Amino acid sequence: MEPETRNRDRLKYTSLMKNLVLLLFILCVATTVDSQPAAKDFHSYSNPQDVRVRHLDLDWDVSFDKKILQGVAVLTIARLNKQAPLILDTRHLNIDKVEASATGSGYAATKFSVGQADAILGAPLTIQLPDNAKFVRITYSTNPDASGLQWLAPAQTAGKKNPFMFTQSEAIHARSWIPLQDTPQVRVTYTARVRTPRNLLAVMSAENEPNTPHDGDYSFRMPQAVPSYLIALAVGDLSFRSLGRRTGVYAEPVVVDKAANEFSDTEKMVEATERLYGPYRWGRYDLLVLPPSFPYGGMENPRLTFATPTVLAGDKSLVSLVAHELAHSWSGNLVTNATWRDFWLNEGFTVYLERRILEAVYGRSREEMEAALGLRDLRDDLARLEDKDEILHIDLTGRDPDEGSSDVPYEKGALFLRHLEQTFGRSRFDRFLRSYFDHFAFQSITTDQFLDYLKTNLLNENPSLAAQVPVDEWINQPGIPRNAPNPTSSAFSKVEEQAKRWLRGEISASAIPTAKWTTQEWVHFLRSLPLPRDKAETQFNTGNTTGTPAASDAGSRTASPNRTTATSPGRNDLDNSVVVLDHQRMAELDQAFHLTQSENSEIAFQWLLMSIRIRYEPAYPRLEEFLVSIGRRKFIKPLYEELAKTPEGKERALAIYRRARPTYHPISVAAIDEVLKWK
Ligand code: BES
Ligand code: ZN
Repeated sequence: MEPETRNRDRLKYTSLMKNLVLLLFILCVATTVDSQPAAKDFHSYSNPQDVRVRHLDLDWDVSFDKKILQGVAVLTIARLNKQAPLILDTRHLNIDKVEASATGSGYAATKFSVGQADAILGAPLTIQLPDNAKFVRITYSTNPDASGLQWLAPAQTAGKKNPFMFTQSEAIHARSWIPLQDTPQVRVTYTARVRTPRNLLAVMSAENEPNTPHDGDYSFRMPQAVPSYLIALAVGDLSFRSLGRRTGVYAEPVVVDKAANEFSDTEKMVEATERLYGPYRWGRYDLLVLPPSFPYGGMENPRLTFATPTVLAGDKSLVSLVAHELAHSWSGNLVTNATWRDFWLNEGFTVYLERRILEAVYGRSREEMEAALGLRDLRDDLARLEDKDEILHIDLTGRDPDEGSSDVPYEKGALFLRHLEQTFGRSRFDRFLRSYFDHFAFQSITTDQFLDYLKTNLLNENPSLAAQVPVDEWINQPGIPRNAPNPTSSAFSKVEEQAKRWLRGEISASAIPTAKWTTQEWVHFLRSLPLPRDKAETQFNTGNTTGTPAASDAGSRTASPNRTTATSPGRNDLDNSVVVLDHQRMAELDQAFHLTQSENSEIAFQWLLMSIRIRYEPAYPRLEEFLVSIGRRKFIKPLYEELAKTPEGKERALAIYRRARPTYHPISVAAIDEVLKWK
């Protein structure tokens, strides 16, 4: 071979090698993208960019006597930086032993330390890793006051005979019962073995076998990788009813038939969601009805939604909760917020999907009512919140993600998506959302990643339509943009007409045609009635009757001292009417409709809230009963807040709370302690 040719060949060879190296580098970067932190998560001490947990193998004894879980967590790790230790999140965990292994057997003790505890974040657990360690085994137990667990005495259950325990991991409570990387940027698969008292059943956010024998020894497998906040466990005297081919409900035996009737449309909802947004990717979809101390309406634990019993209204009127938690199987569980400041990506999308599901299964009128109630919730919140808390891409640095939760991520987020839908048209927007779920499936993303995707796949396609949606204002500014959609309900307009006739004295309460009213119409009716002004309030509000724009009306708030203006609880739609509600009118309504005795939690809640404001004493015993028997934060917090506005009310609140506090979940306790300045 000629030297020149050889030289040329060598050159070719080196440039080929260079390209190969470059290609390898790109490939490495590309395959490790999920190992790169998408954004700083201020709510976790963990270091997934160095060491990433891939799988958990859990094993617990559930001790109702000691109110603890005691057991072992084996973590399978991927090491991206061989020098780095493994840093986990913990809160009040007792760590007995930490061992490491290269193969999953032959464990040897390894050094670890638990750092100083922070009130919000808990304490980092730093584990030194031997060179080849791939498995870390932690022997530990939880604390009886773990923030993510509630231990219920038999008296707190429906059956009254057996104890009950359940977990609530979102937002950052998984660390109080499992030592792990408690950030939604890390997804893990898991297996678990749970030993319980013999007659009780354990269920998890994993594959549950509906017909498993109740023998006190249960095994679970979760093959899809999930963020830590979606790991869940419950143990109690539970029965199961099938609802459809892949749907069912668990509840205490005395509740399960009622629950099965209430939730009988679940399979239909799954099918409707699949038609809109693609296949349900989690196998079964079951619901678990918890005792009334459950602090939330629902929690979207994968394959097994946890739900409050307060939605068992007997007429399916509160099943928007099922639509909501089911929708999270796409928005949240499939495409997950990367940090808690991106929470609106979970909840705003989910509320939007929830309403689409309701429309598909129950029709447009139902959807309109729910959207109008949601808008009202949002307006009420915007009237009380500080600007910084009205922003979708909220700054939560140094704050507890549970504290100050509001309707902003939910309803403002959903309204933003509705604005995009109305601007680009439903079929175009549906296609966009479906591709969004496919594109980011099983990933955790930031608001910026969503915005990039939105620009590339929707906005840039049609700049003149895009110009109609002030995206930056929606995401980064307080309030709602002037040209925001304004969901209205014609059914609600009719309710308002009737309310006005009654308020003007044209008809008696018993002549209001309520026979066909749904729960939503009742709630709207009650919220429309003009209440006497709250003395604590300095700002006058104008009513916003259906038909006026939904835009933030900060500029239209006028002080009109000549008029008795109605205000919260809730801004009123009828506050331009001649009278405000008083004791006598409350009594008239109560006599006609027995509202004090209403068994519908939403109606009872609204009525009791008004009763506090009006000082309608006949409802006080029911108020007390409600507050000591239900622990759902959305209900009890506003009631305690309303009570706390007057000295007498505050005293009553403290007396009730003294009784109720031991039965509330730690999350509700934290919220009410704050309201009542309990020490
Ligand atoms: N994921 C939330 C519950 C949650 C949020 C728990 C933040 C902890 C921190 C759940 O999907 C939810 O939004 N539940 C609502 C009900 C829903 C119908 C709006 C609730 O509990 O009120
Ligand atoms: Zn939700």
